Amino acid sequence: MDYKAYIAEKLAVDGVSPEEILESIAVPPDPTLGDYALPCFKFAKILRKSPVAIAEELAKRYETDEIVSSVSAVNGYLNFQVDRAGLFKNFRESFSPLLTEEGEKAWTGYAAREFTKNSDMGAKKTVCIDYSSVNIAKPFHIGHLSTTVIGGALSRIYRFLGYNVVGINHLGDYGTQFGKLISAYKRWGNRADVEAGGIHAINDLYVRFNSEATEEMEAEAREYFRLIENGDREANELFETFKSITLAYVKKIYDRLHVTFDSYCGESFYIDKIPAVIEKLEKKGLLVESRGAKVVDLEEYGMPPFIVLRSDGASLYATRDLAAAFYRKETYDFDKCLYVVAYQQNLHFQQLFRVIERMGEPWAKDLVHVAYGMVSLEDGAMSTRKGKVVWLEDVLSRSVEKAAAILAEKNPDLKDREKVAEQVGVGAVIFGALYNNKIKDIVFSYDKALNFDGETSVYVQYTCARAASVLDKLGGVPFHSGEGAQLNEREFALVKALAEFPDTVRAAAVHYEPSMIARWCMNAAQLFNKFYIDCRIVNAETEELRSLRKTLTHIAFSTLKKGLGLLGIEVPKEM
Ligand code: ARG
Repeated sequence: MDYKAYIAEKLAVDGVSPEEILESIAVPPDPTLGDYALPCFKFAKILRKSPVAIAEELAKRYETDEIVSSVSAVNGYLNFQVDRAGLFKNFRESFSPLLTEEGEKAWTGYAAREFTKNSDMGAKKTVCIDYSSVNIAKPFHIGHLSTTVIGGALSRIYRFLGYNVVGINHLGDYGTQFGKLISAYKRWGNRADVEAGGIHAINDLYVRFNSEATEEMEAEAREYFRLIENGDREANELFETFKSITLAYVKKIYDRLHVTFDSYCGESFYIDKIPAVIEKLEKKGLLVESRGAKVVDLEEYGMPPFIVLRSDGASLYATRDLAAAFYRKETYDFDKCLYVVAYQQNLHFQQLFRVIERMGEPWAKDLVHVAYGMVSLEDGAMSTRKGKVVWLEDVLSRSVEKAAAILAEKNPDLKDREKVAEQVGVGAVIFGALYNNKIKDIVFSYDKALNFDGETSVYVQYTCARAASVLDKLGGVPFHSGEGAQLNEREFALVKALAEFPDTVRAAAVHYEPSMIARWCMNAAQLFNKFYIDCRIVNAETEELRSLRKTLTHIAFSTLKKGLGLLGIEVPKEM
C-alpha cells in the first residue's frame, strides 16, 4: 500500500478524515527537519487543543514501523524520519506493475484502489463532464483552450481512477444567430464557397451580417429562425450544413489535443424537454410572473431571478441548461456532473444549482461548476469586440512551427521531426494552460512555453527522452528486488517525489485541478535530472546500484509519461 496513505490512516485524528491528513503531509524544504511533516495547526479548532499539544500527542502515540523510523513533535509539526531501505521496499512493491509491459497498460485506477476506505472515490461511479461546449458557426478561439484541456484532463484523470466518464460537448446550436446566418448566406453566400472556406467562410458571413444589418434584415433573420424551429426543411438543411462544417473543423483540433466526447447533445436537443421541466417548476409552485416573463425568485439567496421563459414564451440558455441537467441525471444517473466553464458564468451556475435544489432534487449537491480564468496571448489580447479573434488552430500551428525551428537547431538529425514538433508544440500550449491554478488568468507566451530549461512540458518531455535513452542502454540489467537498498540523497529525493504520483492524481480529481499533476511532473522531472547528473547509471559502481538506478529510471519514465498523458501530452521517443 501507498505508505503516505498508510501513515495517514495510522494517525487517525478524531474528526479529521484520513484523506485530509494525507493531503496535509508534506515534504519540508529543510530535510534535517524530517523527511515528511504534518502541520497540526489545521486541527487545533476541531480538537480544541494547541497545535503543539496535538503534535506531541500524535508523536507519543505513533508506533514506528518498517518505513517510519522515528517521529518527533517540533513547534506544532509532527516530523517523520523515514527508513530509506524500508521506503524503497514499499515503493518498489507499489510500483511493480509498471515494470512489465502488461502491468503498465493495466495500471489504471491504481490510486483509487489503494486508498479508498474513507473516501468517496472509486470504481463504478459515473461522472459527467460538460466541457469545451463550442458554439456552432462561431470561431473556436483561444478562449476555448482552457475548458477543452481542463475538461480533457479531468476526463482522463477520472477514468484513470476507475470512474465511468461521460464527456459532453454541450453545443451552442440554438438561437436567433442561426436565423442571421441563413439570411446572410442567402444574400452573399453559396454552397461552394462555404464548403471550400469552411468555418472561416461561415464566420465571415455572420460578421458581415452583424456589421451591415438593417431593421429589415433583422426581421428576416427572426423569420428564418422561426422557420428552423418550425421544422422547415430548407432552413434546417442549411443549419445542418453549418453544424457539420463546424464539427468537422473542431474535431480536427480535438484530435490534436487528444480529447474525445461521448455526447454532442447541444442546446437544441433540449427544446422538446423544456415543457416537462416547466411543469415540474409549476407543480412545486416555484414559477412566478415578472413583467410577462416566467421566473424563479432567488431573492432570499441574494441572487437575481432565474428567468425560465421570456415574455414572448421563448426559452433561454439557462432554461436549456435546466432541462439538460434533468436529462443527464435521468440518462446517466451520475454521481457528479461537472461544468467546466469560465468564471464569467459563476452566477448562472449558482442560480441553476439553487433552482434544482429548490425543486427538491437531492442530486443538486452533485453539480459542480469547475470555473477557470482567462487565457490571453502575450502579443495581443483576444478581443471579439474589435473583431480580433485569436483562433486556437493558429495558436497551435504557431507553437508547432516554433517548436520545429528549435528542434532543428538543437538536434539536426532528429528522426520523425514533424511528429515530434507536433508533440512538443501542442504539448507546450496544453501545459501552459494547465500549469497554474485553474482560476488564475494567464498570459500565454510561446517563448516561455517552449523553453527547454523552463517550467515547461518540453523540459519534462526532454527528461523522458533522456530516461528512455538510458533505459535503452540497460536492456539486460535486471530490476532491483527491493530488499536492502541503500539510497543516497539524490535517489531518496527522487523516490519520495515519484511515490507521490498516485496521491497527486487523486488530489487533482478531488480539487478538479489538473495543475497539481503538471506541478508534480515538473518537480519529479527536476529531481530525476539531478539524480541523472550526479549518479552514474549505465556505469554504476556496482551491479546492485546499476539495477537500483535502472529501476528508478524506469519508474520515473513511466510515471512521467503517465502524468503528461493524463494532461493530454505525448512523449516523443527521442528529442
Ligand atoms: N457554449 C457556451 C459558451 O460558449 C458554454 C456552454 C457551457 N455548458 C453549459 N452546460 N452551459 O459560453
